[in-house]
Amino acid sequence: MKKKSGVGVIGTGKFLPTRVLTNSDLEKMVDTSDEWIITRTGIKERRIAGEGIATAFMGSEAAKKALEKANLSAVDIDLIITATITPDMQFPSTACLIQSRLGASKAVAFDISAACSGYIFAMAVAYEFIKSGLYRNALIIGAEKMSSITDWNDRNTCVLFGDGAGASVLSKVDRGGILSVYMGSDGRNAPMLEVPGGGSLRPSTHETIDEKLHYVKMSGQELFKEAVRLMAEAGNKALALSGLRCSDISLVIPHQANVRILWAVAKKMNLPREKVYLNIDRYGNMSAASTAVALAEAQEEGRIKKGDIIILDAFGAGLTWGAIVMEW
Ligand code: ACO
Repeated sequence: MKKKSGVGVIGTGKFLPTRVLTNSDLEKMVDTSDEWIITRTGIKERRIAGEGIATAFMGSEAAKKALEKANLSAVDIDLIITATITPDMQFPSTACLIQSRLGASKAVAFDISAACSGYIFAMAVAYEFIKSGLYRNALIIGAEKMSSITDWNDRNTCVLFGDGAGASVLSKVDRGGILSVYMGSDGRNAPMLEVPGGGSLRPSTHETIDEKLHYVKMSGQELFKEAVRLMAEAGNKALALSGLRCSDISLVIPHQANVRILWAVAKKMNLPREKVYLNIDRYGNMSAASTAVALAEAQEEGRIKKGDIIILDAFGAGLTWGAIVMEW
């Protein structure tokens, strides 16, 4: 039985920097190969934002497109939430910088830090605010400049990440919209994926820089197992909360961390691979931007039609995970 929530996505947009970094470019930078990267991750190339282009710029460009699709102007927006782990600076929030770039003068703006699950967490928060009647129109943005926290000499991590931004406008809808939300966190496994330096625990010093503590540190194999287990769990729990069945799903829009993770999740959820949207080959892992860009692209490509049931599903550092079922 489908519940009608009345809050849905009314516009999506994306921004990808134009510079493409291919696997063969990476072969010249670290001891790796196109074949290793494709077979282990599914990634062929990723986008890299140039100097001076940062998260707020990419997020606002994606937001402008989402507003256009939603037929709204910036002053119609009451709430801006930006999900990012690569803010332009420690503070003010990237959401406030985006608010200023857009001229969204009536909006309240703040950031969410939930790594790759950030866009789903942002959508869940915006959903509740709109459902409660406090706000009418929300702009949620997943934007990352992962290249700014990537160690370009570390082959274990540098082949994985890319830069970009995706945005969605949420508002009241006459039918369908968000049907269920499920989220989880496990801080005990925080050390599996972190940027250990540059925060209040280890403020940046010459030593932290020399030790490269300002870059992503990752236990790939442990994360792989947790990603498969928790993305499948999130998808199944959100589906159960919606009262729908696996066979009702038209498309899964997952966080794009690794194609092997996504095939394993599809198997655990009893979903055929063709129902899993993929763009990791072109963009790599853009953390909070991945699911947001994937939703925007799936819509652009006509993969989602009115009345379709889709699931957004993500997992990331924290650990954090979450899924949202919606009727388009
Ligand atoms: N090129 C060539 N060889 C490499 C590379 C590379 N780029 N990277 C690692 N290797 C080597 C390793 O050194 C190792 O060699 P050894 O056997 O001689 O020691 C070998 O390849 C195998 O390494 P593994 O780490 O076992 O490779 P694995 O198959 O696990 O793949 C990967 C690594 C792609 C990182 C995978 O573990 C993964 O995708 N993990 C999950 C990542 C993830 O989900 N992150 C969470 C979301 S991100 C976020 O929240 C920001």
